[in-house]
Amino acid sequence: MTEKELVLKAIESMKNSYSPYSNFKVGAALLTESGKVYTGCNIENVAFGPSICAERVAFFKAISENENNFSKIAVAGGKNGIISSSTPPCGVCRQVMREFCNDDFEILIVRENSEYDKVLLKDLLPHSFKPEILSK
Ligand code: THU
Repeated sequence: MTEKELVLKAIESMKNSYSPYSNFKVGAALLTESGKVYTGCNIENVAFGPSICAERVAFFKAISENENNFSKIAVAGGKNGIISSSTPPCGVCRQVMREFCNDDFEILIVRENSEYDKVLLKDLLPHSFKPEILSK
């Protein structure tokens, strides 16, 4: 699975977004160390609070199937499904990523024309509160 293919899977997953309140469609594609891909989309709720981001859907699908080793994730989003700029993961998703990935986990943030910026989790969530802290 190339990075470009992972990016295209994230873009494809935007189509499944259930986002009648924001109309902001987000897709994610999470690659495991073993080469499997778990996709996700944002799923909103009339009560707003139960809504969940695309990234966490992808992670929770994978974790629920006993996948624990992750290589990278691609994220794409845009109003009405049109990618006009980057959609960086929200703070809650960054914390969830840090639960299951190390500081060097790669995040491909998609922008216009299927181009993407590659960033590391430690740059999105510096000085993180991480599982190792509680195990000391
Ligand atoms: N959203 C995501 O799914 N991932 C992100 O990284 C940012 C925000 C969703 C949440 C909500 O359904 C919509 O985008 C607008 O905030």
